[in-house]
Amino acid sequence: SKKFTVSSFQKAKKDKKKISMLTAYDYSTAKLLDQAEVDSLLVGDSLGMVMLGYENTLQVTMEDMVHHCKAVSRGAKRAMVIGDMPFLSYHISIEESVRNAGRLIQEGGVHAVKLEGGRDVIDQVSAIVKAQIPVIGHLGLTPQSINMFGGFKVQGKNEETARKILEDAMLLQEAGVFAIVLECVPEKLAKLISEKLDIPTIGIGAGKYCDGQVLVTQDMLGMYTDFTPKFVKQYANLNEAIIDATKAYVNEMEEGIFPSKEHTFQIDDEVIEKLY
Ligand code: KIV
Ligand code: NA
Repeated sequence: SKKFTVSSFQKAKKDKKKISMLTAYDYSTAKLLDQAEVDSLLVGDSLGMVMLGYENTLQVTMEDMVHHCKAVSRGAKRAMVIGDMPFLSYHISIEESVRNAGRLIQEGGVHAVKLEGGRDVIDQVSAIVKAQIPVIGHLGLTPQSINMFGGFKVQGKNEETARKILEDAMLLQEAGVFAIVLECVPEKLAKLISEKLDIPTIGIGAGKYCDGQVLVTQDMLGMYTDFTPKFVKQYANLNEAIIDATKAYVNEMEEGIFPSKEHTFQIDDEVIEKLY
């Protein structure tokens, strides 16, 4: 079916059709998710934790992001591919921010970028949009601010912090983002923001009223269990499937069951006899 684009995001909001998003970090997974017709694939900086084993996302570099964006964009045919801008890639200067966003497009092959924050990054967002690079905002629990928050916790529970998130959402919309990820905010705040905005919201731990949802694929498939937030639903238990398959392989190999004839190449006996 048809390619999912920035205009598809706007059309989905208008038609009240939910937008699906999943993370992808590599070619073969991206290809599978694309075949399943997910609307958009996010090369999230969560790859630092899920793919690289870091404790949080702060050590992820532009090089890491470009590397994984290349792989995912080669695997996606229909889905829109979005690349996360890593920590410090959009904080130093406007120029560096546009350059780095441009690298994800030009070298990474993605269609859009995502960055965290509201009023603090508005000038960067405007400049990147002016360079014709579509941007997604990200508010609420923004994991690159983990040291400021002092942990992974729900954001926007009192009037002051809820108002700040709402205002940031309006500012981002004005600056030209085409969607906003809302992470770990109360359901009714996400509902209010989704109603006030003309652009779609994509929720993660933000309840059912968002215009779309995103999950980390390895969480959804049950293959990353270092840390499972409340908002994750497991649609498969690939952990178990992978461990069981691995045990079966090791076992059959030790027992001499694998490789059997069907997985083996043959040579004529008379040829081999000459070599003995
Ligand atoms: O990095 C990521 O996976 C994300 C999503 C959780 C929104 O930013
Ligand atoms: Na991210």
